[in-house]
Amino acid sequence: MRSFQVFGLGQCCLDYIGKVDAYPPPDVKCEFSDMVMQGGGPVATALVALARWGVSCTFAGVVGDDLFGSSIKASLDVEGIDTGGILVRKGFASQFAFIVAEPGVGRRTIFWRRPTGPPPNSEEIDYSLIRKAKVLHTDGFFIEASLAACRAAKEAGVPVVVDAGSLREGMLDLARLSDYFLASETFAKALVGADKPLEACYRLAGLGPRVAGVTLGPKGYVALAEGAIIERPAYPVEAVDTTGCGDVFHAGFIYGLIQGWDVYKSLDLAAWAAAMVSLKPGGRAGIPSREQLREKGYT
Ligand SMILES: Nc1ncnc2c1ncn2[C@@H]1O[C@H](COP(=O)(O)OP(=O)(O)OP(=O)(O)O)[C@@H](O)[C@H]1O
Ligand SMILES: [Mg+2]
Repeated sequence: MRSFQVFGLGQCCLDYIGKVDAYPPPDVKCEFSDMVMQGGGPVATALVALARWGVSCTFAGVVGDDLFGSSIKASLDVEGIDTGGILVRKGFASQFAFIVAEPGVGRRTIFWRRPTGPPPNSEEIDYSLIRKAKVLHTDGFFIEASLAACRAAKEAGVPVVVDAGSLREGMLDLARLSDYFLASETFAKALVGADKPLEACYRLAGLGPRVAGVTLGPKGYVALAEGAIIERPAYPVEAVDTTGCGDVFHAGFIYGLIQGWDVYKSLDLAAWAAAMVSLKPGGRAGIPSREQLREKGYT
């Protein structure tokens, strides 16, 4: 019987990233440089990092039967990730993003289109693979399927990690079913207002997860782990493009979970690996290698 350490369910995307000196006003012609094409999506990119670090992964998501869809699937296949759970929706388009990166300020602006095909329904998920996994990772994008997957994981005692990018409908139900809920600053702001990430952690922890955290880009992260407050700055780096930092932050955390590390060490790897990602354009090119992890003592 096949089994994988991490079951990922969520977004997979194709990102086109171009660099500009400064984000333009409307109605101008703005030349960009250094365009790269890379696979993206919070869960898909987290799985790429995990696969490069030797963790076996299976991914479930949706693409269309277009060129972007085949590139997205190929970008995961090449990493050795099982893509048997990707649903190809005939006649529909895949998720796509055009990203404008401003290296000077470490800022990026994302224009994106969601996949136009139907989301996975709860019968299209392979629950037997979830039950055999060590971690279920989801971004809640396909909320019905994500909730069903989380229930299956809970019943089987499989820990659930959530990458909460935006406060969409159902995300708080997902928090109730999760063990580790790590949200973005955007999510925290929508939940409790700006500049109150710790308050967001308390609110989220009140729903049940053992660890509730908020990532704050170059400002680092805050987390609440069974009552203990953890606040750390980001690793100081000259960021070129922060696309994928959040995705790989989650990968680092999951890697630590699988190794049986405590929350502090898992979050530390998360932040370091995320900082490394910001040094190269795109979410995947800068993922540190397994060898670099070892050199840094993350073993
Ligand atoms: N400019 C930066 N320098 C160093 N570390 C960074 C930088 N930006 C992000 N990070 C690290 O990555 C983590 C996650 O970043 P961020 O909060 O921007 O994720 P996000 O909002 O989910 O964005 P995305 O999903 O697009 O990656 C931060 O907590 C931090 O540790
Ligand atoms: Mg994110």
